[in-house]
Amino acid sequence: MRHQVNYSLYLVTDSTEAILGSRDLVEVVEQALLGGVTIVQYRDKTSDTGILISTAKKLHEKCKQHNIPLLINDRVDVALAVGCEGVHLGQDDMDISEARRILGEDKIIGATVSSIEEARIAVERGADYLGIGTLYATNTKKNTKDIIGVNGIRKILRFLDTKDAATKEVKSVCIGGVNASNLQRIIHQLSAPTPNNLNPKTIDGVAIVSAIIGASNPKEASEHLSHLLATPPPFKASSSEPHFWLEKDDDEISHLLSEAIKATKAVREKSPLSHNMTNLVVQNFAANVALSIGASPIMANYGDEASDLSKLGGALVVNMGTVTPEGLENYKKAIAAYNAAGGPIVLDPVGAGATSVRRNALATLMSTSYFDLIKGNEREIMQVARASGFTLDDSSQQRGVDSGSALFALPQRAYIVQRIAARERNVVLMTGATDIISDGTRTYSISNGHAYLGMITGSGCTLGTTLSAYLAANPQDKLYAAVAGILHYELAAEVAAGREDVKGPGTFVPAFIDELYHCSKDVVEGKLDWRGAAKVNCIKDVPDAGLLKEL
Ligand SMILES: *[C@@H]1O[C@H](CO)[C@@H](O)[C@H](O)[C@H]1NC(C)=O
Ligand SMILES: *[C@@H]1O[C@H](CO)[C@@H](O)[C@H](O)[C@H]1NC(C)=O
Ligand SMILES: *[C@@H]1O[C@H](CO)[C@@H](O)[C@H](O)[C@H]1NC(C)=O
Repeated sequence: MRHQVNYSLYLVTDSTEAILGSRDLVEVVEQALLGGVTIVQYRDKTSDTGILISTAKKLHEKCKQHNIPLLINDRVDVALAVGCEGVHLGQDDMDISEARRILGEDKIIGATVSSIEEARIAVERGADYLGIGTLYATNTKKNTKDIIGVNGIRKILRFLDTKDAATKEVKSVCIGGVNASNLQRIIHQLSAPTPNNLNPKTIDGVAIVSAIIGASNPKEASEHLSHLLATPPPFKASSSEPHFWLEKDDDEISHLLSEAIKATKAVREKSPLSHNMTNLVVQNFAANVALSIGASPIMANYGDEASDLSKLGGALVVNMGTVTPEGLENYKKAIAAYNAAGGPIVLDPVGAGATSVRRNALATLMSTSYFDLIKGNEREIMQVARASGFTLDDSSQQRGVDSGSALFALPQRAYIVQRIAARERNVVLMTGATDIISDGTRTYSISNGHAYLGMITGSGCTLGTTLSAYLAANPQDKLYAAVAGILHYELAAEVAAGREDVKGPGTFVPAFIDELYHCSKDVVEGKLDWRGAAKVNCIKDVPDAGLLKEL
């Protein structure tokens, strides 16, 4: 039994009034077993030993009928009395080696850990699996010291993956606030590839408490969770990943450009909704850009509207230019709605590093949501790296040679972008004189655009609008979609800036809106070819610049 446990849907019981209500625990667990939970931990911190043993015996009968292992939380004596399959030990409970000595080699022993050090010790002492958490705060668990979020769990998994062969074998589940609305995203985010290891060790299951025990129908709740475990999250549903490079660079670029033209056509045909959560500053400009490229802009800041809007096949742009507590709550609602509907979200973490409010807001959003594309300048993307759980090695900071104000040289920037994209399993765009964009596997540089774009307000924002429309219309390959959006935007800027009637940034704006319109219309009608003008390169063999530390 010990070595063949299926940890995927791991039920932890809770007998408190707040969760269980007045129902009978054994009946609730039986429903959960019928619904497909794969392992059960009986946790009851308050009942007397007599009650614990009699309840555990009843639970064990039910579990045996379904051939599902039963573990007892904390109480090795109760596990022995009942003869069940093992125990789960918290940090304050009996030592694992001691429990192993008492229970013998055949029993399952699990341990709660919330740090690398605790994980190291638990593995050394012979734990079969780790319950890693706490992921999110819950009503039953508010001890913030233990709340380690997605990043904390990723760190521990990375440690287990890289320490040694025996450590790699240890199983794990995550615990804390997992429910039907976040389960698929959590699983997606906890599998955090590196460019060199696309299949890293990840959790073997999710521990669920109130989403089953507190559910009005525990059987249906378990069935639903089990179904969610077996299906990809909505935001990956239409993706054609994994992606690979074509062998020759020339082939890659010409394929990319022909895909870009198809993507532009798709934006015009589908006219996707671009939902911008915004204040009023650049709204008009953003709306005009959206219309020019063939998208349908909507400016809606009220979070409760988002669940309806998210179902219309469009994309959301979250711009953190103005963060207020109320704004953040609206963002969260809208983001949750789009994640659930699978609608792409572009995150624009404007000035992300500038204040602690913004740094915290970014970290919270990244820990509780999936963003299909994150775009920012170099400093903003460095802050995204931190929010993704990387530590930056600032000593290796070098001035870029290709851009006067860049902190890092091009290969280093490519490394940072690729690394974040691989880990977040999304597309990351670092804008600059040369833009770098990656999906973690394929990385490109794009050197189009014009200096006027840097002299007008809202150019970064309206690029976000453009990208959102491209992602919405082309969900199968979001990297290609984003490259197409950048080319459209930057080539239009080049044409506009070169026009005779454009004398500077002021006359540039209306010309730019015109050219955004013509650029896509003409390319779709075959009157214009981007091939000569697009300055796109593949960046292959991105060197490990050692800038980002994971542990
Ligand atoms: C664990 O159980 C789930 C649900 O029954 C099943 O889909 C999955 O394949 C099992 N995993 C293993 C490793 O047996
Ligand atoms: C699911 O869990 C998250 C995080 O704990 C919580 O914010 C959210 O409200 C929960 N959703 C439901 C439907 O219970
Ligand atoms: C939406 O508009 C706001 C300004 O009004 C701007 O700050 C935000 O950047 C816009 N986002 C996009 C992508 O248009």
